[in-house]
Amino acid sequence: MSHVSNLQLEDLPGVQPHLISKLKQAGIQSILDLAVSIPNELAAGGEGGGYEGNTISADKETISELVLKAKTALADSGTLIKEFSTADQVLERRKSLVRYSTGSKNLDDFLKGGVESQAITELTGEFGSGKSQICHTLCVTAAANAKGQINSIIFIDTENTFRPERVHQIAEARGLDSEEIMKKVFVCKMINSAQLEALIRNLGKYIEEYKAKLVIVDSIISLHRAEYTGRETLAERQQRLNVILHKLIRLAEIYNVAVVLTNQVQASPDSGNDSLKAAGGNIMAHACTYRIFLRKVGRDRLAIMVDSPHHAYSQVRFTISEKGVENAQAKTAVNDGNESGW
Ligand SMILES: Nc1ncnc2c1ncn2[C@@H]1O[C@H](COP(=O)(O)OP(=O)(O)OP(=O)(O)O)[C@@H](O)[C@H]1O
Ligand SMILES: [Mg+2]
Repeated sequence: MSHVSNLQLEDLPGVQPHLISKLKQAGIQSILDLAVSIPNELAAGGEGGGYEGNTISADKETISELVLKAKTALADSGTLIKEFSTADQVLERRKSLVRYSTGSKNLDDFLKGGVESQAITELTGEFGSGKSQICHTLCVTAAANAKGQINSIIFIDTENTFRPERVHQIAEARGLDSEEIMKKVFVCKMINSAQLEALIRNLGKYIEEYKAKLVIVDSIISLHRAEYTGRETLAERQQRLNVILHKLIRLAEIYNVAVVLTNQVQASPDSGNDSLKAAGGNIMAHACTYRIFLRKVGRDRLAIMVDSPHHAYSQVRFTISEKGVENAQAKTAVNDGNESGW
């Protein structure tokens, strides 16, 4: 998609130069940046809670108009899907989907081929259920591409649990070039939610710069959850989460990248006493294309598809070893719909 970055703000018809320089000052460098912006967010002091240093002083209508122009320009150039597409066009677009292996063939089959581009895959589960291990394995398994080159991966680490040693170990155990793979994993450690929001706002630039094919956020919610405690801040937290999730969806679609998010669990008040559900409420539920719940089962792990547009509710076993994620032992590797004890 090299033409994406060729569209300059100056190419937009009928936009005054002073607005273009305002946009640039706000960190919007290209038509693509503008197209994925949220008008409320850009308008200084807008309801969306303008972000300092990233807002422009113009009224909301003007900004909405600019964003719309950018979207139209991208749609005309074939980069962004038009508001309406026919089913056959959607099918054609889905053919450009790429899938990345999780490291376990069974888990890949369960996901109909692996972690998918143009989509958000959410991994939820209790501590130690294997969320971060899947992320580390993906750094290695998603690295190989058809042309024999190594794909770049962006790893956003909010829990300080990214371990380069582990990526190295997984690559070595799989007989891959660990040194080269390690050079293609771009890690960014986040320490607060404002930093995460700012990074995701500018993520398009980094995806282009690093030619990333997969974006991992481990975890998407921990910083917001830790900072926005109390009931009175819940609405704001959810709104902020919504903004970054929508940005991620649009980036996934525009750049044909796969987005993998980990999420935490919370007690589910409406079901049994020990039942857990993914945190983040409806906002997370709506934003994620695939929702996978992970559970420990003895030494193995169970992945359960919670929400998917075209996967039946099902589950599969996998295990975690020196190689990262891999198939569970043969006797338990079958996709066992009658699994008991959970
Ligand atoms: N090198 C390794 N070899 C085998 N198993 C490993 C290895 N490293 C980690 N594990 C397994 O992975 C588990 C940790 O899983 P992981 O870190 O993915 O959990 P998580 O779901 O991310 O939890 P949290 O919510 O705490 O972030 C360990 O308990 C261990 O069982
Ligand atoms: Mg983890």
